[in-house]
Amino acid sequence: MKRTLVTNIGCLQTPVGSYSHKGSKQGINEKYADVEVVIEDGLIKEICASGKSSPADFDQVIDAEGKLVTPGLVDGHTHLIFGGYRQHELAMKIAGAGYLDILRAGGGILDTVRKTRDASEEELYDKSMSFLDEMLSMGITTCEVKSGYGLTKDSELKMLRVIRAMNENHKMDVVPTFMGAHAIPPEYEGRGDEYIDFLCEEVIPQVKKEGLAEFCDIFCEDAVFNAEQSRRYLQAARDAEFELKIHADEIEAIGGTELAGEMRATSAEHLIAIKESGMDAMAEGGTTAMCLPATSFYLGATYAPAKKMVEKGIPVAIASDFNPGSCPSLNLQLAINLGCLKYRLLPEEVLTAVTINPACAINRGDLVGTIEPGKQADMVIWNAPDFEMVCYRFGSNLAEKVIKKGELI
Ligand code: NIG
Ligand code: FE
Repeated sequence: MKRTLVTNIGCLQTPVGSYSHKGSKQGINEKYADVEVVIEDGLIKEICASGKSSPADFDQVIDAEGKLVTPGLVDGHTHLIFGGYRQHELAMKIAGAGYLDILRAGGGILDTVRKTRDASEEELYDKSMSFLDEMLSMGITTCEVKSGYGLTKDSELKMLRVIRAMNENHKMDVVPTFMGAHAIPPEYEGRGDEYIDFLCEEVIPQVKKEGLAEFCDIFCEDAVFNAEQSRRYLQAARDAEFELKIHADEIEAIGGTELAGEMRATSAEHLIAIKESGMDAMAEGGTTAMCLPATSFYLGATYAPAKKMVEKGIPVAIASDFNPGSCPSLNLQLAINLGCLKYRLLPEEVLTAVTINPACAINRGDLVGTIEPGKQADMVIWNAPDFEMVCYRFGSNLAEKVIKKGELI
């Protein structure tokens, strides 16, 4: 058995429990001063008072030097596999083009689709693995990754195979989501219904057969998929025993969040334009709000009403949305800053939003997201005395040491 001791922790801050936290519970964290954590074979065994254990009894001792320790961060929403980049869109944006204008003109997601179809599995794998390295160095120890830049059966399966290989070969735990309904591909232009039929009849069953995803997601948005098409797709996904996610109310509220709540989707994501009826439906359906503040920042959009959603009893998570168009940043620490500054959430609420709540929204709540006996030993030692400092400083990487399954990265 391999035994590791994380010693000399000045402040250990963590939510508790393996369930998603909502309402006033969103802001409840446990804070321990002067403790150490005993790890056995990659799992947390005990949190105890500093000096209780004898370092000689351990194979490895990690000195936290009196600093802050939190659970490893969980990024519950990324599109991190893609061919090429879209830096040329920046000038169009500066000239005033909106996100949907660029998409309607055949750019945006469709530009990345062309480049992703052209990329080999190896190219995509190498590029994505280096993104995972960067994320891990910034304190993210578990993430979700969506397909959705292939939009043919073969290229979607290619993306999902890359996700599987990443999960097998990288220290990061990677949770796969099938998002074949990310855009209407050029071959189906003007025939969104037929594309949905194709996904439901031919692709979803194949993804299931090969065990390549846990969730299915769809972009329910004006000029992309409407609420009725989203319902059909999500129903087919549920019939095939996938759990449901939906990109909803990102730019226009066209019924996506009401549908999410009604279908008891695991999460609805973006929510910038959500209305009262969408919030009520999500609260009723137990659907997590996956909020993406760095996307609001990058699009120059308004911010999702995260505070109000907490007050309404919706579990709130915060993720990066890392993708080549609306958020070319994988820095979840920036999202933490924006969670406080723009959503007006308190540091404790934000910590819950980047640990246990996204962990539950990607079905890993019993494994990660808190520092408690029995959970995987995924932890971050911060160059900070408390989590307020992590919320307050911005632009630097404050993750000093990252521990994944008990191993120092
Ligand atoms: O979550 N909204 C849809 N999908 C991504 C953007 C994808 C892209 O622009 O490439 C998002 O923001
Ligand atoms: Fe997204």
